[in-house]
Amino acid sequence: MIVADAFVDLRSDTVTRPTPGMREVMATAEVGDDVYGEDPTVNALEAEVAALFGHEAALFAPSGSMANQIALQLLVSPGNELLCDADAHVVTYEIGAAAAYGGISSRTWPAVGADIDPETVAGMIRPDGYFAVPTRAIAVEQTHNRGGGGVIPLATLRELRRVADEAGVALHCDGARIWHAHVADAVPLVEYGQLFDTLSVCLSKGLGAPVGSLVVGSAEKIERARLIRKRMGGGMRQAGILAAAGRYALAHHVDRLAEDHARAARLAEAVAPFGVLAAPVRTNLVPLDLSKHALDARALAAAARAEGVLISVLGPRTARLVTHLDLDDAGVTRAASVLARLLAA
Ligand SMILES: Cc1ncc(COP(=O)(O)O)c(C=O)c1O
Repeated sequence: MIVADAFVDLRSDTVTRPTPGMREVMATAEVGDDVYGEDPTVNALEAEVAALFGHEAALFAPSGSMANQIALQLLVSPGNELLCDADAHVVTYEIGAAAAYGGISSRTWPAVGADIDPETVAGMIRPDGYFAVPTRAIAVEQTHNRGGGGVIPLATLRELRRVADEAGVALHCDGARIWHAHVADAVPLVEYGQLFDTLSVCLSKGLGAPVGSLVVGSAEKIERARLIRKRMGGGMRQAGILAAAGRYALAHHVDRLAEDHARAARLAEAVAPFGVLAAPVRTNLVPLDLSKHALDARALAAAARAEGVLISVLGPRTARLVTHLDLDDAGVTRAASVLARLLAA
């Protein structure tokens, strides 16, 4: 079943399928055994992404979750602590991987999406000592998924860097959608890159590649990351077929994210009169808060599905609409009219 053909699919930006141009470069990609370091297309992708963020090296990984978990294992040794927000992907949707694979203890600040207060984070850091679990790293998410696609301001990130430096802890960015932040706030990727010890970035979300994420960092870290990836079963062989899709996505699908943001704004405008917009829309995610609405999230999703529109249920009264490469203006018009009618009833 090809869901996207029959429905307007607003569940996630991961539902996109490779474009004809992307498939063409995949079919003709030069490949080798990447576990031997011999896949020229993977090597080119890694060098390209490292340079984009102003770091020495990068490592191709099968998923954003694995890229995050490799980075966390680089920064936090077993029995030590990671700080992040309570809604962070790394502690919400990665099935306890930091604890299960890294022996990492996680402590969270209350979920505030992209509105982080660096002083709150500073106050949570625990130094080395006999009694406490020492903090080794802070992780932030740019853009923030459960935070409705919010963009952490550059000034906040700079403050967090200062906090991390003063405490001697590392700073990681879950940058699955950092491309969207780059487009929304016109911050060069290299400027984001400079602020973090490690980043994970995804090619398979808004950029439309079928598979793939990268860990970005120093040459020393990425050498260790290669071992961790292999240990986790993430060593791939002729992965150049996938890396070619990623390179194509970087060349063709970054600037166009502005279109996704504009379409998300149109959806937000359509649902806003019904008091269900959870937060202002900055990027490609439209968070819905149905706590004051007659329909709960499941009921809205079921009614929308019956009319050919798919949305994500995040909680009993929270839902999400996502714009992406496989959604055009006609799809947005159809979805906006269906959702407005259902919410008005
Ligand atoms: C913010 C964020 N980080 C990481 C991931 C994990 O990516 P993957 O599904 O490739 O493991 C996602 C997935 O949607 C995400 O939204």
